[in-house]
Amino acid sequence: MYPIVKKERFAPEVVLLEVEAPQIARKAKAGQFMILRVDDPGERVPLTLADWDAARGTITLIFQEVGASTTKLGMLSEGEAVLDCVGPLGLPSEIERYGTVVCVGGGIGIAPIYPIARAQRAAGNRVVAIIGARTKELLFWGDKLRAVSDEVLVTTDDGSYRRKGFVTDVLKELIVGGERIDVVYAIGPVVMMRAVSHLTLDYGIRTIVSLNPIMMDGTGMCGACRVTVDGQTKFACVDGPEFDGHKVDFVGLMKRQQIYLSQEKEAMERLIGLRIADCGLRIVA
Ligand code: FES
Repeated sequence: MYPIVKKERFAPEVVLLEVEAPQIARKAKAGQFMILRVDDPGERVPLTLADWDAARGTITLIFQEVGASTTKLGMLSEGEAVLDCVGPLGLPSEIERYGTVVCVGGGIGIAPIYPIARAQRAAGNRVVAIIGARTKELLFWGDKLRAVSDEVLVTTDDGSYRRKGFVTDVLKELIVGGERIDVVYAIGPVVMMRAVSHLTLDYGIRTIVSLNPIMMDGTGMCGACRVTVDGQTKFACVDGPEFDGHKVDFVGLMKRQQIYLSQEKEAMERLIGLRIADCGLRIVA
């Protein structure tokens, strides 16, 4: 069992858990992920590491409650425990002295972009972070990113905080404004990563995206996480999760992400039914 030592709710559906997992914390590197199960039987949930503390032996996970498993995970409290955790998994980010690195985090992607920004800055790069969310309530970790970046630019889709618009609007302004950019890292919803990649392709700027396909074993054996990159089949769990954004088949990725939507809906309905039953209520048809 992996005890939860801290829980914080950033927004109605966005939760931070700090979990005791010393073996993962000791080996974690920016860009890697882990897989957990809340209970048995339970779905294996892949989450990119948002942070870790080798001395405390903890890892930090930030997730959005979008399905039954993440909703169950979000129902756990400090002092309770996750059934099992495996990791760190996947290849770490390539951290080199590039020059200027722009780290783009959209929505929940703000969490995994943080350790990448920190590592790129530690390697001697100028780091510009661009973070965005639908609305102000869904933004988090601006302060943590400011501590590891030379500049942090914030945008919201609805204009409720800082400027109104998408992260791609901010990135385009930087590019056309003459900022010399050597590499862009983009993590967030697939549509956002695709939009960033399309934009940077026009300007010939190398772009790395972190893919989030359906995963099961996380060790390259089941094939669930296959993605097409540069016309070749790759397994995101062992060949990624980071890939050249200019070579990813985003349309194929989006289609594969829809495969289990009906099962996911059923699982969510079951969970809601159980929660209502727990409350001692009865559903009247
Ligand atoms: S999750 Fe099974 S091969 Fe990647």
